[in-house]
Amino acid sequence: MSMCCYVNELPVKRPQKKVSDSKRTTSDPMFPGYINNSQIIFGGRIMSSIDKLAYMTAKEHAEQEVVTLSAYILFHKPVYPNYNLVLKSSVNYVGKTSMEVGVRVEAENSITGDIYHANTAYLTMVAIDQDKKSVIVPELVTKTYDEIRRRKEARQRLKILKNL
Ligand SMILES: CC(C)(COP(=O)(O)OP(=O)(O)OC[C@H]1O[C@@H](n2cnc3c(N)ncnc32)[C@H](O)[C@@H]1OP(=O)(O)O)[C@@H](O)C(=O)NCCC(=O)NCCS
Repeated sequence: MSMCCYVNELPVKRPQKKVSDSKRTTSDPMFPGYINNSQIIFGGRIMSSIDKLAYMTAKEHAEQEVVTLSAYILFHKPVYPNYNLVLKSSVNYVGKTSMEVGVRVEAENSITGDIYHANTAYLTMVAIDQDKKSVIVPELVTKTYDEIRRRKEARQRLKILKNL
């Protein structure tokens, strides 16, 4: 346990949680009804899947209600109907009340199983209490090479985000 924050001028001991405690993978079939005029899956539909997974991931880490503060989503390649989205998420970085969740989205052909990288997303999620005020979340323990790299990269993104 380490000290970090003060609530009502009293120091707060923060619990620690590992990246693996909240890491998630989920699948979402893309039905033909989700296409836009270009006959590819509407970006907003994919963003909804990303946001839901980021919500579940951050809530699992925080053990409290969370809201989305910001989202950066890159559409590397289009997704076609009858593909499945395969979404993988993890908490990359934790501040005091905010968390960056990274989501990798792959598109999987539901017949052949062929798979390709479709999206990269980084979302800032903030834990809130019943009065919708931001509240402190557990610290993040990063151990593996990738976890430490993602944490460093998230810190860089946060600096840019705060200067916008
Ligand atoms: C998210 C929200 C509760 C934050 O409220 P707030 O008064 O700005 O709260 P705080 O000032 O305490 O900041 C909360 C955290 O967000 C971070 N933050 C605030 N503005 C930021 C910005 N522009 N960029 C990056 N981080 C930011 C703060 O640094 C803080 O993180 P930290 O505690 O880890 O350092 C509030 O902005 C809100 O309710 N937004 C609407 C959310 C929403 O409707 N989302 C869509 C539906 S889920």
